[in-house]
Amino acid sequence: MLTTTSCRNPYSALLAAFVVTSSIVIVQKFYLPQLSTTICPSTLEDFTLVKDKPLLLLWFWPLGVRWNFGSCKTLFNIDNCVLTDDRSLYDKADGVIIFHKDISHDMANLPRSPRPPFQKWIWFHVESPTNTAKIPGLENLFNLTLSYRRDADITVRNELTVLKRTEMEGEFVMPKKDKVVCWIVSNNDPSTGTSTRARYYQELVKHIKIHVYGRAFTGRRLRYEEYYPTLASCKFYLAFENSIHRDYITEKVNGPLVAGTVPVVMGPPRENYEQFIPPESFIHINDFSNAKALADFLLQLDQNDEMYLNYFKWKRYFKAKPHLLKLEEEFIQPVCTACEYMARDNKYYNVVHDLYNWYFG
Ligand SMILES: *[C@@H]1O[C@H](CO)[C@@H](O)[C@H](O)[C@H]1NC(C)=O
Repeated sequence: MLTTTSCRNPYSALLAAFVVTSSIVIVQKFYLPQLSTTICPSTLEDFTLVKDKPLLLLWFWPLGVRWNFGSCKTLFNIDNCVLTDDRSLYDKADGVIIFHKDISHDMANLPRSPRPPFQKWIWFHVESPTNTAKIPGLENLFNLTLSYRRDADITVRNELTVLKRTEMEGEFVMPKKDKVVCWIVSNNDPSTGTSTRARYYQELVKHIKIHVYGRAFTGRRLRYEEYYPTLASCKFYLAFENSIHRDYITEKVNGPLVAGTVPVVMGPPRENYEQFIPPESFIHINDFSNAKALADFLLQLDQNDEMYLNYFKWKRYFKAKPHLLKLEEEFIQPVCTACEYMARDNKYYNVVHDLYNWYFG
């Protein structure tokens, strides 16, 4: 039963002795078999703290993508909760994270045993409403929402990472540019709401050359190591969201901000962007009457270094942190953030009334 050997820590013998002499109640209450797989107490003190950590059950691995729960500590220094994917711990879990897409329109995929009174179900969904299936029956099932929206209970914005620059960090150096406008796009299927951006592109490309990359145009995904260098080699990057919704501002904007390229954004109104990123760090297509006016402006900036450099003044005070590029990494931060949220004192009673009314409203 004491499977602490996988922790390879020098205290394991001591720990085992401690555990054995502890009361059985403690052993049962704090799910010892689980400890070995999810956390590895490195000292006796750490171990005694485990009892305060909430247990969070990840009901589905999102889209079947798996990772190591230890990433919460190594990537985000989040260590005050315990994650598990072991469904047999359902009755003990303080929270259950349910990834919307994986319900796959079948309520039988949800937990079926009665819900313990203390347990919170967390609706985990990061797609925009346009790309969201309304699965009937979920309206009044959840206690917490985990989404990119600022009015979610647990908001995840790992894709926008503008932070204060510290004095220690060197000055921003403009990367070498050999292109004016670039666009990386993998999905250009009009049925997923991408037609607006596809139409705008068709208009824009009549007036300015656009270097295109990604599956939609070249049939080939950019490799991870090509992503930032490609962005950096362009003066402007088309950060066109696949659909237009409040707060739906993604890594498409963060990428160019990190690379030292000006994002030309299509998405919610300018004011919404300014709630997340500096006002003079981007160009909004709504600031122009049409695609030709935008193209003319970009060509003008291409000829005028002083005007162009104004878009980088924010870099004196802020920086953008590279977002994670691999699929599993997209899910790690939300799950870790939910875990940390559960560890805070959130004792209030919470029911999400009419999930879809909120999400699509
Ligand atoms: C969670 O939501 C369900 C469904 O609305 C509700 O019955 C339950 O009491 C809530 N639980 C908590 C702990 O808030």
